[in-house]
Amino acid sequence: MDFLAEYDAIPQTDAALRVGLLRQRMKTEGPALLRELRARRPVFATPVGVFVTRMPDVVEVLSTPDVFTVGVYGPTLEEALHGPFMLARDGADFHWHDRAHAQLMLPAEDFAPVRRLTARLADHALDRADRAARAEGRTTFDYIQEYAAPVAARVASEYLGFTDVPEETLHTLSQRVQWAVFVNPDRNPEVHASGVAAGKELHDLVAGVIHRRRAGTGTADGTPRDVLDRMLRTVLPPGTGPELDEERINHQLVGYLIGYQQNATQCAATALKELAARPDALAEAERLAGGDDTAAFDGYVWEALRFHPFVPSTPRLCVRDHVLAAGTPRETPLAAGTVVHAHMASAMFDETAVDDPYAFRPDRTPVHNLVLGHGAHDCVGKYPARAIVPEMVRRVLLRPGVRPLPGPEGAMDYAGTPYPQHYTVTTGTAPLS
Ligand code: HEM
Repeated sequence: MDFLAEYDAIPQTDAALRVGLLRQRMKTEGPALLRELRARRPVFATPVGVFVTRMPDVVEVLSTPDVFTVGVYGPTLEEALHGPFMLARDGADFHWHDRAHAQLMLPAEDFAPVRRLTARLADHALDRADRAARAEGRTTFDYIQEYAAPVAARVASEYLGFTDVPEETLHTLSQRVQWAVFVNPDRNPEVHASGVAAGKELHDLVAGVIHRRRAGTGTADGTPRDVLDRMLRTVLPPGTGPELDEERINHQLVGYLIGYQQNATQCAATALKELAARPDALAEAERLAGGDDTAAFDGYVWEALRFHPFVPSTPRLCVRDHVLAAGTPRETPLAAGTVVHAHMASAMFDETAVDDPYAFRPDRTPVHNLVLGHGAHDCVGKYPARAIVPEMVRRVLLRPGVRPLPGPEGAMDYAGTPYPQHYTVTTGTAPLS
């Protein structure tokens, strides 16, 4: 591929044509394009921002929040949440405080119970999808609509605390917010308005849930039954910053959903797709799925996701003049106001940092896996995420008949959106009629 020759041949004054070529190639030949950039122009300045493609430089951007802030999507996120949120802010006062709070509300201790919850809900959804297919004379079902999305939403209901909010509502509203905040680079006004309206609906639904909890519908024995209950019962010691009032708790809970629902749904699908594309890895993952070594199994899922992460790249706003990759051949001065794209999907294939990056190696060091982000804003829901995503995939692999269709028929269908909407898998069982 010689993307750069083609790109450079377009006059610098024709920004639209340059950006058009970049976006089209990123969509159709992303891995090859990124490989070329890493080798020839690892810090790539374009009219829509500077693409940072090598591991050390991505780590530098994501670990220096006083220079590289979340100011690119932060304002839209807060508009959609109708209030402040950690992923929209940087700094010692707000981000530090609310992230610390979130770490306590989403502790490592949740890993095992969330995994059991996911297993139960996933088995139930697989049974239901199988029954529906058989009753309708089908031998396939839609993995996204009938399995991944409802399971993720059900976990959100039972674990996070979106009690009595229908699964489909959680999924579709959070998708509209996600799209407006994170995948709307040209600020399409319809996408934006739809996301902001969806955020308001979520806010009002959660206000209702909180109101009912306050009215005494929570558990009687004092044990918090979910993350929302924990937040409502938490009293911070004096001198540790502001209490989270009901509005702030609302923003936290809706923010968690935005950080989770589409991510979990898509990851459960792309991990299966990547495994299915590698028969040897799939066979070994199937074998491990039935055993006790869940950590070994999980390695297959996270390695699969390295090849297709939910968040390939995250933008940051450079707010102070800064020299990136100082003292290396890639050294680049960046002016305040520059948008920088920390390309995590590229960094995970950086030949100079990651050993044999194109090989599928489930026992890689997690240091090189950026699927859950990196640095100041890395995924604060990482413990539940590490339980939910692998377990959703594991429950499927325990059913040998449930597999993607081979060939183009088995491709994921995005239906013109940034998110996979349909993914056909076999049931492995015969229809009733
Ligand atoms: C299920 C798979 C998940 C994936 C793939 C994922 C991925 C990510 C990524 C890549 C980031 C960094 C974003 C950036 O730097 O711009 C992030 C941040 C975040 N995630 Fe997750 N996430 C998942 C699950 C969750 C869960 C379960 C929660 C909460 C219940 C959550 C809440 C958050 C929050 C609040 C942040 C922002 C943290 C901060 O600003 O300091 N995520 N996530």
